[in-house]
Parts: sequence; structure tokens; C-alpha cells
Amino acid sequence: MKIAFSQPALPETGVLVVTALAGAKLSQAAEQLDKRMKGGLSRAIKASRFTGGKAQSLSLLVPGGTRLDRVLVLGLGKANEIDSPGLQAAGGRLYSALGRKVKAATVAVDAVEKCKLSAARMAADLAFGARLKSYRFDKYRTKEKTEEKATLGRLVVACSATTRARALYRGLDKVADGVFFTRDLVSEPPNVLYPETLARHARSLTKVGVKVEVLGMAQMKKLGMGALLGVGQGSIREPRLVVMRWDGGAGRGRGRAAAPVAFIGKGVTFDTGGISIKPAANMHDMKWDMGGSAVVIGLMKALAGRKANVNAVGVVGLVENMPGGNAQRPGDIVTSMSGQTIEVLNTDAEGRLVLADALWYCKERFKPKFMIDLATLTGAIIIALGHETAGMFSNNDVLAGRLAAAGQAVREPVWRLPLGEDYDKALKSIIADMRNIGGRAAGSITAAQFLQRFVGKVPWAHLDIAGVTWSDKEAPTAPRGGTGFGVRLLDRLVADHYEGR
Ligand code: BES
Ligand code: MN
Ligand code: ZN
Repeated sequence: MKIAFSQPALPETGVLVVTALAGAKLSQAAEQLDKRMKGGLSRAIKASRFTGGKAQSLSLLVPGGTRLDRVLVLGLGKANEIDSPGLQAAGGRLYSALGRKVKAATVAVDAVEKCKLSAARMAADLAFGARLKSYRFDKYRTKEKTEEKATLGRLVVACSATTRARALYRGLDKVADGVFFTRDLVSEPPNVLYPETLARHARSLTKVGVKVEVLGMAQMKKLGMGALLGVGQGSIREPRLVVMRWDGGAGRGRGRAAAPVAFIGKGVTFDTGGISIKPAANMHDMKWDMGGSAVVIGLMKALAGRKANVNAVGVVGLVENMPGGNAQRPGDIVTSMSGQTIEVLNTDAEGRLVLADALWYCKERFKPKFMIDLATLTGAIIIALGHETAGMFSNNDVLAGRLAAAGQAVREPVWRLPLGEDYDKALKSIIADMRNIGGRAAGSITAAQFLQRFVGKVPWAHLDIAGVTWSDKEAPTAPRGGTGFGVRLLDRLVADHYEGR
């Protein structure tokens, strides 16, 4: 869908979207339209249940007194409660209402009294929400019926502050590109997307100025990444480690460059559980066990796309966890790159093994300002927080606070859970430095404790995104499927705190 911004002039024909506030208070554009309709818009509203609430919309076909085909009235709620996420949701509602019939539409956005957002900001957010909701993954559907296909190809946002709105939207559009890339990767089936091909997708970021290196088996062996390699050894698909760098900040990658911020992702392209094999029911969900890596890749695309003033690195560990004649066994002891040995008591607790080497590598090579890892790490986090909130673990209160605030701001909430020595004890092994499972109790926390053993003193946060990476329900700004949860959150974190000038 193409988005354009234009000066405010109501179109004579086609499809027009206007807004109303709580109490069915019409915007200026809606007032103008109502006049043209000789009060018909007000009458239609009175005849309906529409009250301008922030989850409402009202659709009018061939409104009298005009040559328009359709008018959609979007409720925005109370003026003083309007915020960016609310407007993005309204944009999503706009898309849902029109997206399967209408080819082009104009939405009129006016400044609203008592609203903390400018008209330009409102226009940009509305457009962003519509674009996010327009996402489709239909490359494997060859028999789609016409009425199932998306139609809305062009959305014109009419607003007085056109230049400003366009400038604000430019960055958001790049963030949406990153979110879409993440959703695409998460949606791909596991026969198509495996370590080598996922690495190839990451490599495509060179087009937007990201430096990409792909490490193969031999290099990882040399580095001593026994934990990551152990997970991959049961699969005929060889593992990869991808390193992405966006040098948009101070020093721009030269000798005195400012320390980068670092994002690390779990990229298990399919998780059967290995020899500790999973039950058959819903095992197909494990195609999105590479969700953490997809967020890191999408984030790098977003940062590079909007030319963020930051030095950022992304490191993703890519493996397929399969049973097989050469697969890792429960009881194996592997040596991680850090030198610490791990007794693998359950081959299904594989994400932490992959991250152990990815985190250590990132820390040693880049000496980053902080490390944030993302992983669909535990089923237990779904029991604890469901599908609305990601689990957060951190050794640093400042970083945790900033992440929580960014999550609030973009409505990708994270909730901090505790770490502590007593939890760490659950990882004691009788014959190695640690084992890879705690016990039934506090499964998400003991998994995080495991990761913490590989971050040294670097400020670090771990986001367990197992519950939020995939959604079986529609969301205000996303269809069902891969959500892209994490891209907007981390883009916001960077924008708010780490873009030095
Ligand atoms: N990828 C899974 C976690 C997962 C489960 C993600 C469901 C999304 C939905 C992970 O590798 C795993 O299998 N974790 C085990 C850990 C256990 C063996 C200690 C789990 O959560 O059961
Ligand atoms: Mn697993
Ligand atoms: Zn897994």
C-alpha cells in the first residue's frame, strides 16, 4: 500500500475517511462534509450506535448530496486521551474497514483541540497504523479468491502540516519495513527457511548499508563454539552465525568509534526438541523458534533504513534442532566458547546453548555498551505472562527501566522477572560447570540465569518472547501470524536514549 500526504481539500469522488471525537463531535473536515451532505452525516450518526469512541467506526455508502462512494467515520475517543498507539490502532481500523474492497481512499486529519499531539504527528501515526495492518504473507497462496485479496493500494492523508507529517512518517515507514521483514521471516516454512537461507536473508541488508558477515561451521569450530554447534549437529542443515553492523553513530566504524549497542537473537529455524523430542501436537509452531533472530534482523533493517545515528551490532545464532544419528544426546557435555562446560540434560533446552556462544562472542568482539538478547526461550513464560507481554530479565536497573518505558510507549509491553543466586543454584551439575536445565520450578528464570553466565559484567537484558512472537488473533495493527514484536520496542529504545548527536 502506497501512502501519500496532501494538502487538506475534501475529494469530490471516491472514498473519504473523516474523524470524530467522543460524544460524536465532528472534526473540521467532518463538519465540512456534513454541510455538503446537508446534515446527512449528523443524521446518520444519530441513527447509529456510533459515539466517536476510540474503538468505533461508522461506514456510509453513497452519502447523499455528494458524489462520494463511501464515507468512513473513525472514532478517536476523548481529545485529551488521544495518543500515538491509539491513532495507530485507528489507522489499523481504517485499513480493516476498507482493505478488502476499496482501491484508494483519502483520510482527512485535522488538529484537535486539547490533544497533546500535533496534526502532523496524528497524520503520521494514522498512516503508520494503516501500513502495519496492511501486512500480508500470501506468497504461498495460489488459489486466493478475489474477495480475500487486499485491494487498498493507495492511502492519501490530507492534513495542513503536510511537510512535517511527511518527515515524521519517513522514519516510521522504515520501521514498518523492518517489522514486515521480521514477520516475513517468522512466517516462512522451515523447509524453506533454515540457517543457510536465513543467513542469506540477513545478507540482503547490505543493500541498505549494513555490513554483514556470515560465519560457517569451520569458523565456529575454531572459535570453540561447542554449545551452539552441539545443537546443530543432528541436522543436515549446517549452522551459521551472522554478524550485522550498522555504523551510523560517532566514529562511524573507524578506530575511535563509540562502543556499539548490541542485539543478539535466538535463531532455531526448527525446534523438534532433538533427542528429547517434543510431542507432535503443535510442533509446527516451532518454525517460529527463530523469532528472536528475525527481530534482530528486522531491527537492523529499520535502524539502517532510517539512518539512525547509532553504532549497532546484531548477532544471530542460526541452527536447526533435529534428532538423528549424529544428534546430541541427553548427558553429553559440551564446552562453550567461554570455556565453561555444560552438561546437556535435555536437548530441548537448546536456545540457551545457542545464545551462550552468541552472547560471549558478541561481548568479546565488540565490547558493547549493552547487550539485549531476544529469544522464544521457554514455554513457561507463556504460562506466566500469556500472549500480551514479553518477559524481561536484566542485570541492570537503568537498562531495564528504559526497556519498560519503551515497551509502554509503543504498546509492546515487557514485564521484569527476578534473577538471583538462589535460582542460579538450580543449574548446578555434578560433573560439569553447569547443566542446561533447572527444574520444573521457575523455568523462565532458570533459563535467564543460564544466559547470565555468558554476559560477564556487560549491562544486559534478556527478552523471552515465546508468548508474543506469533498471534492466533488479529491485533489492532497486525493480522494473525508473526507479530514482529520487539522491532518497534528496540527501535524506540535506541531513538530515545542512544542516538548521540
Ligand atoms: N522453543 C522452545 C520454547 C517455546 C515453547 C517457544 C513454546 C514457543 C512456544 C524451547 O526451546 C524449549 O523447548 N524450551 C523448553 C525448556 C525445557 C526443556 C527446560 C520448554 O519450555 O519446555
Ligand atoms: Mn526447545
Ligand atoms: Zn527452542
